[in-house]
Amino acid sequence: MRTPEVSFRLDGKSAFIIGGATGIGKAIATSMLAHGATVYIGSRNVEVGERASAEMGSVFVPLDVTDSGSVDAAVDRVVSLAGRLDIAVNSPGGRLNKPAELTTDEEWRDVFNVNLDGIFRAARAQGRVMLEQGVGSIVNVASMSALAVNTPQTQSAYNASKAAVVMYTKSLAAEWAPRGVRVNSISPGYTATAMTEKSRAEPAKLQAWLDLTPQARVAEPWEIAGSALFLASGAASFVTGHNLVVDGGYTLW
Ligand SMILES: NC(=O)c1ccc[n+]([C@@H]2O[C@H](COP(=O)([O-])OP(=O)(O)OC[C@H]3O[C@@H](n4cnc5c(N)ncnc54)[C@H](OP(=O)(O)O)[C@@H]3O)[C@@H](O)[C@H]2O)c1
Repeated sequence: MRTPEVSFRLDGKSAFIIGGATGIGKAIATSMLAHGATVYIGSRNVEVGERASAEMGSVFVPLDVTDSGSVDAAVDRVVSLAGRLDIAVNSPGGRLNKPAELTTDEEWRDVFNVNLDGIFRAARAQGRVMLEQGVGSIVNVASMSALAVNTPQTQSAYNASKAAVVMYTKSLAAEWAPRGVRVNSISPGYTATAMTEKSRAEPAKLQAWLDLTPQARVAEPWEIAGSALFLASGAASFVTGHNLVVDGGYTLW
């Protein structure tokens, strides 16, 4: 038998990228479009989402991952437009820098409601469609904060939520592998997006981040995109339950 060519191409595939209008999600959407996928992006801000879609050539589907009905309706909409759902990337996230002893119940719940529960709601809806199809690939965006405690800022709720995303991803991977659905996560290091903009403008904090990163710089969003592209593509057909760390070496020290 001829060995099939290893390919990162996504021609003929539909991809739904939650958080795809900005930052890391937008870089992933751009790279999937360049590799042939039909891309749908979802988030709350309609103006930002429509503008990003017009710029990239994707379709914007508004949704709020804190609302199951909104997530289910958005996934239904993508399936009705595309006819199927081959790839899903879940990149919604919010961070909270707060000492652990001062974190309120509400702040803790807000972080988990987007970062973990949002991914649960999204992957559940996407998984139902993919299991029915018998094929699909989901990539959840976790963080290096799932593996290492960042400093100097304190962010216990964020760290815990991201660690849970990695374990939830492994659990889905094990459950759904026999039915043709792969589920992986990526764990970016510090990346130049809106999420880190304020911190990057603080010279002492930025220097502390760089000192703790072997590559001594933050990533550009496009440098994170290849990891999601690989995991979503046929090149990763035997990869499931993996957490691909893309952190310039941060978690080595
Ligand atoms: N930047 C970093 O250094 C870094 C490092 C490791 C991991 N990450 C992770 O990477 C992911 C993307 O972050 P980013 O850095 O690219 O920042 P970002 O540009 O702020 O992206 C976050 C995206 O999530 C969407 N979102 C937030 N809450 C949502 C909700 N309730 N429902 C639907 N969409 C929602 C936002 O759009 P709307 O506000 O319009 O909804 C936005 O598009 C996050 O999960 C983050 O934790 C980032």
